[in-house]
Amino acid sequence: MSNSLFRTKRIEQSIQDTEEPEHALKKSLSALDLTVFGVGVIIGTGIFVLTGTVAKNNAGPAVALAFVVAGVVCALAALCYAEFASTVPVAGSAYTFSYASLGELPAWIIGWDLVLEFALGTAVVAVGWSGYIRSLLENAGWHMPAELAGRDGAHGFGFDILAAALVLVLTGILVLGMKLSARVTSLVVAIKVTVVLIVIIAGAFFINGANYDPFIPKAQPVAAGGDLKSPLIQLIFGWAPSNFGVMGIFTAASVVFFAFIGFDIVATAAEETRNPQRDMPRGILGSLIICTTLYVAVSIVVTGMQHYSKLSVDAPLADAFKATGHPFFAGVISFGAAVGLTTVCLILLLGQTRVFFAMSRDGLLPRFFSRVHPRFRTPYRPTILLGVVIAIVAGFTSLSELAELVNIGTLFAFVVVAVSVIILRRTRPDLPRAFRTPLVPALPIVSVCASLWLMLNLPAETWLRFGIWMAIGFFVYFLYGRKHSRLATGEITPAPPTGGS
Ligand code: ALA
Repeated sequence: MSNSLFRTKRIEQSIQDTEEPEHALKKSLSALDLTVFGVGVIIGTGIFVLTGTVAKNNAGPAVALAFVVAGVVCALAALCYAEFASTVPVAGSAYTFSYASLGELPAWIIGWDLVLEFALGTAVVAVGWSGYIRSLLENAGWHMPAELAGRDGAHGFGFDILAAALVLVLTGILVLGMKLSARVTSLVVAIKVTVVLIVIIAGAFFINGANYDPFIPKAQPVAAGGDLKSPLIQLIFGWAPSNFGVMGIFTAASVVFFAFIGFDIVATAAEETRNPQRDMPRGILGSLIICTTLYVAVSIVVTGMQHYSKLSVDAPLADAFKATGHPFFAGVISFGAAVGLTTVCLILLLGQTRVFFAMSRDGLLPRFFSRVHPRFRTPYRPTILLGVVIAIVAGFTSLSELAELVNIGTLFAFVVVAVSVIILRRTRPDLPRAFRTPLVPALPIVSVCASLWLMLNLPAETWLRFGIWMAIGFFVYFLYGRKHSRLATGEITPAPPTGGS
């Protein structure tokens, strides 16, 4: 039994699967498309919303350092992702990579985990988007009825109709095809980056140096009780829970990590890339470097414009301009944020459907979901199913706790990918790798430790929820996937135990 749980799919088989016409996606993306795609999903709720929350509650102006910490963790993971993406250029990201290296059960675990990351990530961003749209509508004198404005403001029934509508419209765009969504994405990414640059350049003129004092506020104890809300690391070591100080920077990093989610999704588009061997690493690392630079600059400017204790938690970038008496800039930024969050949602949704598609193509989920549309060549069935489910979740969702759950799932995927790099180097040294992670195994090991460290800085209750989700995943695998997997039905032959083709 243990052998079958760790049966691996031959890498050549993974690549061959993508060439069956009925199950093949169109290869149309270049390195530039991938970078735009990456920036399109990376810059979003993290910088536009969470910067204010963590500066105010956890780190003060040192939120800029939290972005550096989270950026370094992501860069380490990106170097591992890039090797895998250029070796196994097929849809499904970490799921596909681990199927070829760690085995079927670990692959299932990671696929199930990515469903959590992308589906809830889409819902979180849709709700953030809806908040910005409502704020723009309110500027124009329109007020949504409280029952349709989401769960947070409602008494009794609350459904976020704007968030749900956004997810459904984006689902339609994805069903129509990759090319259309890539074009829409490019335009929106340009608007979003322009707005971020406006914040940095215009905001720099309104900085008051006194706001940086102290740059790392002194640690403050938090109220007793609610242990499950404390970072797991504090509970493990029995430390008194505190905010700010040096540990506050790590707590902040584990939250603003959300701002970097998305670069891994670039890897899920490998199968749709013209020259994955060359373009994948360029796309992943390029988008990550651009975003880290922008985040650090934005957080330094914003915490310089307004004292961290006064930052708004709903629209901190726009409100910092209002606070310094520049409402025009605030309006432009709100508009850009609302437009920008649209692409984040679109690409998270895309990543989600591609993972689901790959799992279904392997028989771990019903094969019904892996037929592509005869005309649009898109995996329309999982796109529609997941779009509807996510729209409902987004309608009934409240933001912050879900973001932490998304983070833990993503960090867990990073751990699996880094471990897989080491394993695949041993089992398949022969495979051509257009991009090789430097310093193996040292770098992947540091990457595992860095991801685990951020995970430990997330609240204990987030760990609990994550555990429950994964337990459900085991249940589904043993009831369905294990028997229906194409490796189990004999449709394809597993790789020999030592690897090799
Ligand atoms: N990185 C994306 C965001 O910040 C998910 O919204």
